[in-house]
Amino acid sequence: MALFGMAEHESLPWQPYPELTDDARIERARTFLSHIATRRSCRAFNDQPVPREVIEAALLAAGSAPSGANRQPWHFCVIESSEAKATIRVAVEEEERQFYAGLGGSAWLGAVRPLGTDADKPYLEVAPWLIAVFAQRYADADERDEARNYNVTESVCIATGLLLATLHAAGVATLVHTPHPMRFLNRVCRRPDTERPVLLIVAGHAAEDATVPAATASKKPLEEISSWL
Ligand SMILES: Cc1cc2nc3c(=O)[nH]c(=O)nc-3n(C[C@H](O)[C@H](O)[C@H](O)COP(=O)(O)O)c2cc1C
Repeated sequence: MALFGMAEHESLPWQPYPELTDDARIERARTFLSHIATRRSCRAFNDQPVPREVIEAALLAAGSAPSGANRQPWHFCVIESSEAKATIRVAVEEEERQFYAGLGGSAWLGAVRPLGTDADKPYLEVAPWLIAVFAQRYADADERDEARNYNVTESVCIATGLLLATLHAAGVATLVHTPHPMRFLNRVCRRPDTERPVLLIVAGHAAEDATVPAATASKKPLEEISSWL
């Protein structure tokens, strides 16, 4: 039987979430917060391996994300091969040299100055895993009119958030990297041009001498990031 407000459709019973007291809910939410708040972008990795099973679990967590019309419009290309990493590093550093030479524009360059980043990206070869995240504009590239995906970027970014959270829970450091433009990733990852590369995630363990930019340590307080009606 269809519920009020919902078109008739096949349905399965709701799987109940754990029964908790409100105090327990608050505690769980705060416990997760104190764990996730320790995540920091890492820009110096060592070559200590991370088991493939960790990456697989993180990808499945990403794949569990909500998505527009449940199209799941994402593809994750997982890169372990040294040759592919070297190719990516060369391509990224070429783009980044142009960015830092001025192509990024003075406002953008000013915004990233406190991070102390530059065009050298040795970690792209050192870290055990790179994950290129692609957004699929079509569910079926041959049937573009019928098979358009919806809310593609939003869906892909939510999925990537779950990926990052799972890797952090597993004690794996990450960096979200956005070389600009990123079309070379289609070539390296052998993905069709109907897919748009959105992010390149670096995953591994922090080098002993890794640092984080002081400018990123503080996050906006609740009053600033929220309003309540
Ligand atoms: C969409 C996106 C793109 C980013 N691109 C880059 C990048 O290209 N290079 C880089 O070093 N960091 C990049 N970052 C990382 C941010 O600089 C970092 O998240 C921010 O400074 C806050 O620091 P935190 O992650 O340690 O909290 C990116 C982050 C996001 C979410």
